[in-house]
Amino acid sequence: MMWTALLLLGLAVLLLYARRTRRRNEPPLDKGMIPWLGHALEFGKDAAKFLTRMKQKHGDIFTVRAAGQYITVLLDSNCYDAVLSDVVSLDQTSYAQVLMKRIFIKSLCQNYCHLENFSMQNNLQHLVTPSEMGLKVSEWKKDGLFDFCYSLLFKTGYLTVFGAEKNNSAALAEIYEEFRRFDKLLPKLARTTENKEEKQIASSAREKLWKWLTPSRLDRKPERQSWLGNYVQQLQDEGVDAETQRRAMLLQLWVTQGNAGPAAFWVLGYLLTHPEALRTVREEIQGGKHLRPEEKQKNTPVFDSVLTETLRLTAAALITREVKQDKKICLSNGQEYQLRRGDRLCIFPFISPQMDPQIHQQPEMFQFDRFLNADGTKKKDFFKEGLRVKNPSVPWGTKDNLCPGRQFAVSAIKELVFTILTGFDLELCEKNAKLPLVDPSRYGFGILQPAGDLEIRYRIRS
Ligand code: HEM
Repeated sequence: MMWTALLLLGLAVLLLYARRTRRRNEPPLDKGMIPWLGHALEFGKDAAKFLTRMKQKHGDIFTVRAAGQYITVLLDSNCYDAVLSDVVSLDQTSYAQVLMKRIFIKSLCQNYCHLENFSMQNNLQHLVTPSEMGLKVSEWKKDGLFDFCYSLLFKTGYLTVFGAEKNNSAALAEIYEEFRRFDKLLPKLARTTENKEEKQIASSAREKLWKWLTPSRLDRKPERQSWLGNYVQQLQDEGVDAETQRRAMLLQLWVTQGNAGPAAFWVLGYLLTHPEALRTVREEIQGGKHLRPEEKQKNTPVFDSVLTETLRLTAAALITREVKQDKKICLSNGQEYQLRRGDRLCIFPFISPQMDPQIHQQPEMFQFDRFLNADGTKKKDFFKEGLRVKNPSVPWGTKDNLCPGRQFAVSAIKELVFTILTGFDLELCEKNAKLPLVDPSRYGFGILQPAGDLEIRYRIRS
């Protein structure tokens, strides 16, 4: 009797929820044709394509249904900061995220930024020595550019951020391989569309990485407690169960190591396929040759424009908040909309401002000097319909939640590109090769990854 009542109640709630209609002042509502699932399949397959289609249909704000969840998507970039700054009504999605950021900022960014930069450079220089790379002077080696960049920056970041010992390159290679197994599956895991075999691969990667990375195995110098160690310790102190700790730890490993490598790939990939850009960057590096190592990275407007342009084209994080209470928001044209408690709010800076044709001409093209003024200084003024755009690109998130590792990421990418361009001969195996297309399943997950690779050969410059 009780079960029947509960079932009927459940059905009634489901029907009521499914019958959701647009209320006055709410954004346009698009539920899709399939009950409950709504637009989930199209959203998951290629978020950029789907959201661009929705933007064309509804404008800069709309609500879609995906797997039972109502998601309001905001694409008016001039009001991102103002809307997301209300951290009372709009909540970060998980407690683990909030905690991670707090600990990360405390233990890495505030206290150790300079030290980290210094040790990051040391670690990278160690990894590109001929013995570490298995290279003899003047011998060419072939590789895929993606794997080349990702493995080098993963290892550099891992050694620097987690303070692990550097003497075992076989172990480092193994950790990278296992991390990549997990990274490849990340979009599927996040959407819970993985099959049985993939579930096993992810779980075995999680087990192995957990074994390698738990606090006792990480370097624990008293003055420099590892950041990840701190994080896991806090989770334990708060009574979080072991499985959740493992999941959280792997996600944090991904957040800190999963973006800089792919970004370095796109930077070098664009340079190798755009000869004028490569020549201009080389000239800039050449001009700073006489500077001390710590000064070399400082005055590099051409490289900075190349990096900003690369991130504009490839940074595609979907920034999500939970709507904790009904909330009114105002778009930059003055129009007001009501958000409903229990929904999610998403912004996707990749579509606007980054790929917005009203802000950036020919947005799909790589133009290395897009962020340079005619006098060679950094270009900051971009306009949309006569209004100055606050941020022409938003790769590091919004003001309330900027990536705390951004300086570290920029220095690491710069150090890698400068080291490769000065210490190595690097060329495409096939002279006219083109950059591979992006893997569309990665929209929403930070820096995009390519669907294929770019074959390169390199040797140590004699
Ligand atoms: C090109 C490289 C990178 C890009 C584009 C990037 C981008 C971002 C973005 C957009 C967010 C905010 C996400 C949100 O609000 O939902 C974020 C958060 C974060 N990033 Fe980065 N990041 C990069 C590299 C790094 C590196 C190298 C580290 C650490 C060494 C790092 C550490 C973090 C941490 C701890 C958070 C907070 C996580 C959270 O709030 O869930 N990031 N990053």
